[in-house]
Amino acid sequence: MQLYVIGLILLPLLIDGLAIFHRGRPRGGMAGSPRRTLRSFYNRVKAPIDELWYTQQLDHFNPTDIRTWEQRYYVNDLYWKKNGPVFIQIGGEGPADPIWLVEGQWIKYAQRHGAICVMIEHRFYGKSHPTADLSIENLRYLSSEQALADLATFREYFNSKYQVSEQSKWISFGGSYSGALSAWFRLKYPHLVYGALSASSPMTALTDFSEYLIVVRNSLATYDEKCNDAISDATKVMQNMIQSSSGRAELKTAFRLCDSIETQNDVDNFFQTVAGNFEGVVQYNKDNRAFEGARATNITIDVLCKTMLDTTQPNILQRMVNVNDMILNAYDQPCLDAGYMSMINQLTNISWNASAAEGGRQWTYQTCVEFGFFQSSNAPQQPFGNNFPASFFIQQCADIFGPNFDDNLLERGINFTNAFYGAEGFSGSRVLFVNGAIDPWHALSFTKDPPNNNTAIFLSSTAHCADMYPDAETDPQELKQARQTISDTIGQWLQ
Ligand SMILES: *[C@@H]1O[C@H](CO)[C@@H](O)[C@H](O)[C@H]1NC(C)=O
Ligand SMILES: *[C@@H]1O[C@H](CO)[C@@H](O)[C@H](O)[C@H]1NC(C)=O
Ligand SMILES: *[C@@H]1O[C@H](CO)[C@@H](O)[C@H](O)[C@H]1NC(C)=O
Ligand SMILES: *[C@@H]1O[C@H](CO)[C@@H](O)[C@H](O)[C@H]1NC(C)=O
Ligand SMILES: *[C@@H]1O[C@H](CO)[C@@H](O)[C@H](O)[C@H]1NC(C)=O
Repeated sequence: MQLYVIGLILLPLLIDGLAIFHRGRPRGGMAGSPRRTLRSFYNRVKAPIDELWYTQQLDHFNPTDIRTWEQRYYVNDLYWKKNGPVFIQIGGEGPADPIWLVEGQWIKYAQRHGAICVMIEHRFYGKSHPTADLSIENLRYLSSEQALADLATFREYFNSKYQVSEQSKWISFGGSYSGALSAWFRLKYPHLVYGALSASSPMTALTDFSEYLIVVRNSLATYDEKCNDAISDATKVMQNMIQSSSGRAELKTAFRLCDSIETQNDVDNFFQTVAGNFEGVVQYNKDNRAFEGARATNITIDVLCKTMLDTTQPNILQRMVNVNDMILNAYDQPCLDAGYMSMINQLTNISWNASAAEGGRQWTYQTCVEFGFFQSSNAPQQPFGNNFPASFFIQQCADIFGPNFDDNLLERGINFTNAFYGAEGFSGSRVLFVNGAIDPWHALSFTKDPPNNNTAIFLSSTAHCADMYPDAETDPQELKQARQTISDTIGQWLQ
């Protein structure tokens, strides 16, 4: 799922100043589909999945604030047996996509365990608009704590609306950010949710997530260590060229940049965006996301590394350009959007109609005040150069949201997040953490022996949230086994 896209259907040729892959989050977020039409959806879904709305409180932590808004959710009760459990799929940093009510592993678990399935959209994403716009004053109501409290009030409403018996257990599901929410729901509201599945969940907030690119390097090395050498060589060529204005002009043409490289921020964002070409592929390597409309799922680590090691192409820079062309073509992008001000201008727009309201502005806000997670180039042992340190991302926070959004504010926010949820000392219980070694996010999750008797599954061959997607015959045996274990674990919880 999402760090992980419908509602706002982006036109394929839209140039909107936002990278396809931004801050660990593909457009649309984890459980969203970027460019699928409603018609193709309804052709595949046998039963219509209605869009439903719940009148939700704006501020759970101020009883004198009585303002409300409409929160979107979807339900599938096809497999529900009398007194059966309730499975809740927690929305993350993108629109809730109703395809998840029809496909995805949790639906199979629901069939086996006789559950009613509900997916709730996260406040401020998709069509769940608590406020008139995305101004900074309004974004103060966007936080993981408010989102968890939304789940608490929603549960009461849902049980009453669907006449769920008090014996029915709730089990929560989520992947990536919403995987963390799933574990935190169990931590903070253990009386409301009996057990939690937490896929690829970053459980510790931190400013400098430099380990991300180290895992990217390690994952590329599973194809061939020389792949990283080739990337490193190409990066050096780019670093030389970028020193001169003629070199910058050549890079602009070669990488089909939308904007010229002018400022140091443009230089840094260029290197970050080129690294993003690799990050997005590694994070979603060989998964089955195509069902939710994800594109380019046939561009894998193998394809990137074959391109980088293509000896029929003697020019190392050209191999890097070929990777870039492949990705631009797969996403129907006429140019690579790497200009710094273009990105900042898009993310500064507070309108719900702006392209950044698809989730880019909201998720950037959450990273700037709650989580950090900056996928920096601070670690030396990775092949993408050193142009985008953590401070570059903090600079973006200030440029988008104002000078108050500095390192000190972020550090306070991160300290609070970790104190509030426990970070490595997570003390919730009955949570099953599922991670894959290819996925860079596993570095912030529990891959073995989680504290407090929780359990973990760590897969050697899979990427981000792989266990959540529909299965394919080509899935690795360990993934098939893991899904069986997950389903059995749910069965034990429900006894
Ligand atoms: C991926 O699939 C698309 C559409 O079928 C095709 O045009 C493209 O060449 C494929 N790319 C790779 C790397 O296999
Ligand atoms: C957003 O777009 C909708 C539909 O096109 C329009 O009705 C509304 O006025 C727009 N809102 C803003 C703030 O531009
Ligand atoms: C914000 O985005 C909307 C919708 O795309 C656009 O109409 C508006 O002009 C933008 N505002 C600014 C300040 O760029
Ligand atoms: C955050 O926590 C660290 C470690 O406990 C501490 O050194 C630092 O001063 C805290 N920062 C802020 C801004 O509170
Ligand atoms: C973990 O489980 C074991 C065996 O069931 C039990 O003895 C122990 O008290 C549990 N520890 C915690 C922290 O819950």
